Amino acid sequence: MREDARNAANNVNEQRLWQRHAEMAQLGAIPGNGVNRAALSKEDIAARKLLLSWAAKRNYSISADGIGNLFLRRAGTDANATPIMTGSHMDSQPRGGRFDGIYGVLAGFEALEAMDEAGVVTRRPIEVVAWTNEEGGRFAPCTMGSMVFTGARPLADVLDVTDNEGIKLKDALADTLAATPQVAKHDFKSPAAGYIEAHIEQGPLLENARKTIGVVTGIQGLRWFNVEVSGKTDHAGTTPLALRKDAVRDSIAIINALTELTHDPKDVTRFTVGRMLVTPNSPNSVASHVLFSVDIRHPEPQTIARLGDAVEPLARKAAKFCEVKVTPTLHDDPCVFDANVADAVEAAAKTLNLPHMRLSSGASHDAMYMARICPTAMIFVPCEKGISHNEAENATPGDLAAGARVLTAALIELANR
Ligand code: GLV
Ligand code: MN
Ligand code: MN
Repeated sequence: MREDARNAANNVNEQRLWQRHAEMAQLGAIPGNGVNRAALSKEDIAARKLLLSWAAKRNYSISADGIGNLFLRRAGTDANATPIMTGSHMDSQPRGGRFDGIYGVLAGFEALEAMDEAGVVTRRPIEVVAWTNEEGGRFAPCTMGSMVFTGARPLADVLDVTDNEGIKLKDALADTLAATPQVAKHDFKSPAAGYIEAHIEQGPLLENARKTIGVVTGIQGLRWFNVEVSGKTDHAGTTPLALRKDAVRDSIAIINALTELTHDPKDVTRFTVGRMLVTPNSPNSVASHVLFSVDIRHPEPQTIARLGDAVEPLARKAAKFCEVKVTPTLHDDPCVFDANVADAVEAAAKTLNLPHMRLSSGASHDAMYMARICPTAMIFVPCEKGISHNEAENATPGDLAAGARVLTAALIELANR
């Protein structure tokens, strides 16, 4: 390893990194040690302001693009060189934890500060990005900020997405951007020479194998749909079954059919209905309308294609009484990360004497979209019992710092290529 990379990695400050997680966890704190910081909410704005207050003490340039992705750039010596990027997201699930997403932003920021403190200069600039709306819990789909940044989907396509309260993304976005008027404009699709994202694993593999660092080799495929079932509301006590168009009854039939479709004795396929809106949502009225989400994941391209393609025909067939509309909202094929970037991560872990292993990600990440425009890989650190998307999500200060050290060293390596 380069001497400057080792110096900077040694300057990663475990206490500071942990303290910053604690400060961020105050923004949207919920009982049980969790965090509810929905994308483009007032808590998200507070997190952005806190990050910017730390960045203001350093000599980094700050900018945001049209979907609110926030970029903090540490200059390199070559003014014409494209940056190496790192980062993750600051939004959380409604009942999320203190580490999912924010760790990658804080580890990236810690890496920049450690470089400053070690007096390290790099040829390329290094840019920390906080992606907007990675979770998709408020505005679907997930990984929206990186999707729009990389040009996979135009901004105009997502502006009218509404949350459960009927608030449009474009209005929440305008409020968010207006809250930090000092921030310069950043273009979509600005070129990058590489991207490394640090994240908690959100699964049990590292903990079970007693490894500190996961060298992430790719992400499984993911398809999302909105299913809308439309019937008729009626009196629950008087309306004979034969006259009902019960949207809940048909939704149950559809979900049962999809459960059967995705049944997998090897337990590799993932199928989730996590969001359900029932109208009028009254115990003694037959439901006229149900909107529910479908999330299906699998690591093999053929399997995720087959399962995803089966959703609409199966839903139509299963519904006996109501109209069914199926809208695909996300289609991510499985992605394989760049071998050189993964090797740089692995080499850093090895030189820093950290137990490591290669693994693939079950969760989705913005790295999936960045992999479409530049060489990309990820670093995982363990989280307790693999629990995530849950208030109980936990990680140790030592593991978080170890991941930040590997990130620092790998970024310096790539930023001098
Ligand atoms: C990201 O949070 C995902 O759903 O994998
Ligand atoms: Mn995440
Ligand atoms: Mn998440």
